[in-house]
Amino acid sequence: ELSLLEKIVALCKRRGIIFPSSEIYGGINGVWDFGPLGVELKRNIKESWWKAMTQLRTDVVGMDGSILMNREVWKASTHEDQFVDWFVDCKVCHARFRLDHLKESSCPLKPSKHPGECGGELTEPRRFNLLFKTYVGPLEEESALTYLRPETAQSIFVQFKNVLESSRMKIPFGIAQIGKAFRNEVNPRNFIFRSREFEQMELEYFVPPDTGLQYIEQWKEERVRWYESIGIAKEHIHVREVPEGERAFYSLKTYDLEYDFPFGRQELEGIAYRTDFDLKQHQIFSGKPLEYYDEERKCKYIPHVVEPSAGVDRTLLALLCESYSEEEIIGEKGQKEKRVVLRFSPRIAPIKIGVFPLLKNKAELVQKAQSVFSRLKVHFKSFYDESGAIGRRYRRMDEIGTPFCVTIDFETLEGVREGKLAGKKDTVTVRYRDSMKQDRVGIEELVDFIRQKIG
Ligand code: GAP
Repeated sequence: ELSLLEKIVALCKRRGIIFPSSEIYGGINGVWDFGPLGVELKRNIKESWWKAMTQLRTDVVGMDGSILMNREVWKASTHEDQFVDWFVDCKVCHARFRLDHLKESSCPLKPSKHPGECGGELTEPRRFNLLFKTYVGPLEEESALTYLRPETAQSIFVQFKNVLESSRMKIPFGIAQIGKAFRNEVNPRNFIFRSREFEQMELEYFVPPDTGLQYIEQWKEERVRWYESIGIAKEHIHVREVPEGERAFYSLKTYDLEYDFPFGRQELEGIAYRTDFDLKQHQIFSGKPLEYYDEERKCKYIPHVVEPSAGVDRTLLALLCESYSEEEIIGEKGQKEKRVVLRFSPRIAPIKIGVFPLLKNKAELVQKAQSVFSRLKVHFKSFYDESGAIGRRYRRMDEIGTPFCVTIDFETLEGVREGKLAGKKDTVTVRYRDSMKQDRVGIEELVDFIRQKIG
């Protein structure tokens, strides 16, 4: 029997959600590609975050910074010197482990044991930097060196003044950004949970110096609500206050929002009170003033920052784990069948509606179904399918989490048929993924009907 994570990995591959990057060449460790459905899911997650953070608020603006930045940024942020992990190698099996993950790792030769406990001697811990190096311009020399960004946050700090002046925002206000980040993780693992290339959704919220501890509480509540709004049960999200020894050195207070993944309770998002550390560093390193004049308080200060920092990939993995379910149902011919369902909230589902003619070889049904599809696709990501038995088509939609299926049948064409009660001309069946129940809805009402159901 496969584990839940193995089942999810297999489903993601089979249905075009996530593939190993460069797979035909044997892949590349810790890097993933998102297929036709994966890209829709990621877009829905990002759009929901963006809307909650920017559109629905008056105190946050967005930006989209570059991945490559001046190397001085990474000196000022301390990443160049201090963004390090420690690792050890097993002298027997040559496996490599992150020092602070020894307790969660297992020996490849004796999976019931932790590294080192199988009798294999471990090397002395070694330190290494997680930044990916790259060179800007034709010469691979020290003066051309920079890094792929390991977090999106720094471009927000570096552009703080430009955004402030051009948007005329007043503190407290925030800058939101979604984008790729890169870390040369020692041990990428647990599918897309820890990878070397991933996407972050970060907000830097600038506040007066003495108010950071107040705002971090507000953001903690706000962020838990967002996870609930995309379909993660509140009981599965755990707020953990990170103790002093574990916090980043610049943070006065940090909450981790953790999720019960199949491989244990792990961080989904970090919410950190970063004080004025970053702006101060950039002011020192760039020599440019990054202070703010507070008109109400009639004083100048370097703003403090509360940062809710989430991962697109981790949110997607949490949603897959939260939504995956297997059920036994009675099939059309009375036989027992297994049904795999991704119970995504309709707003997150990659495809909202499957549109089917009942039969493929009846031209009128096909024509009508295509015209219904044309009408729906303008409003919702829809999928037209005419191949195979209708039950099989429903099952395929269940497996990718499509919340609604619209079927065009003989009643649609002819209205009530002899001996049958149900059905009126120009109505279709709307079948619900979770209950498998059906309603008959007029084609004219369909768009509004589904919009209401999506909410
Ligand atoms: N700017 C703060 C910052 O980057 P972090 O806790 O290192 O903080 C924030 O990262 C979030 O980014 C994490 O909670 C996680 O969701 C995501 N993340 C970090 N490293 C990741 C990795 N290697 N793979 C996937 N997601 C990652």
